[in-house]
Amino acid sequence: MNSSKIFITFRTKSFIRIMKLISFKNYHLLSDFAATEIANAIKDDPSLVLCMASGHTPVLTIELLVKKLTEEKIDYSQMKFLGLDEWVGLPPVNEGSCNYFFKTKLFEPLQLNASQCFLFNAMTNDLEAECKKMDAVIADNGGIDVMLVGIGMNGHIGFNEPGTSFSIHCHVAELDNSTKTVGQKYFKEETVLHQGITIGLGHLMDAKKVVLKADGKRKAEVIKKTVEGMVSKNFPASIMQNHNNGFVIVDEEAASLLSKPH
Ligand code: F6R
Repeated sequence: MNSSKIFITFRTKSFIRIMKLISFKNYHLLSDFAATEIANAIKDDPSLVLCMASGHTPVLTIELLVKKLTEEKIDYSQMKFLGLDEWVGLPPVNEGSCNYFFKTKLFEPLQLNASQCFLFNAMTNDLEAECKKMDAVIADNGGIDVMLVGIGMNGHIGFNEPGTSFSIHCHVAELDNSTKTVGQKYFKEETVLHQGITIGLGHLMDAKKVVLKADGKRKAEVIKKTVEGMVSKNFPASIMQNHNNGFVIVDEEAASLLSKPH
């Protein structure tokens, strides 16, 4: 284990479940850890079902993952990839869309086959059917093996906004004002954002392994709430405390408000 990281085991009040918190010196070490975990998981199970968020959080992890898979000649031809969410109404050619993100950063560099990639079509006029389609993809592939998620400034995971049930599956969400405002960072021009389509927290709870990654000072407050706050649907990321194979991985800045020792 790299000396720059601290391994802390965090017990919830019930003392039944254990969430692991791992802290790294910086974003690079943090991203490299996540990329190595995913690459090793694909090595162990070539037909792994991987689900990932887009946005700032996974960018370097994806870059390093592409490098590892290619350089180490890991067979990913049977792997299945699921995009966590999408902004409703955005075409996949919009550079701020999750579709565009995954196509350019992951699918094209790895030359993934279309049959391996599952992204929401947020342009459809039947969003409910789109949700059912993704629920079926997850069921047909035996559930999600590994999920790498980020955390929003309101504690959201994917577009599971505050107030979302912990047992919900794929659904369409009305976006929080904070999500609409913070989300502007992905777009070149001001973009009207109303709804998101997302894999739900029920799928997250069913996933075999969930890694929530966060970096930077701006995430310190939400990481404190995730790890040390009450488990509540009003703060969706607190669900990580209930997952029996959940990891919260952070850099030193994102960990800076945590009380010590745990
Ligand atoms: C995006 C997603 C969101 C982000 C979260 C953090 O696909 O699922 O929940 O993970 O908003 O965004 P970043 O990583 O840009 O800080």
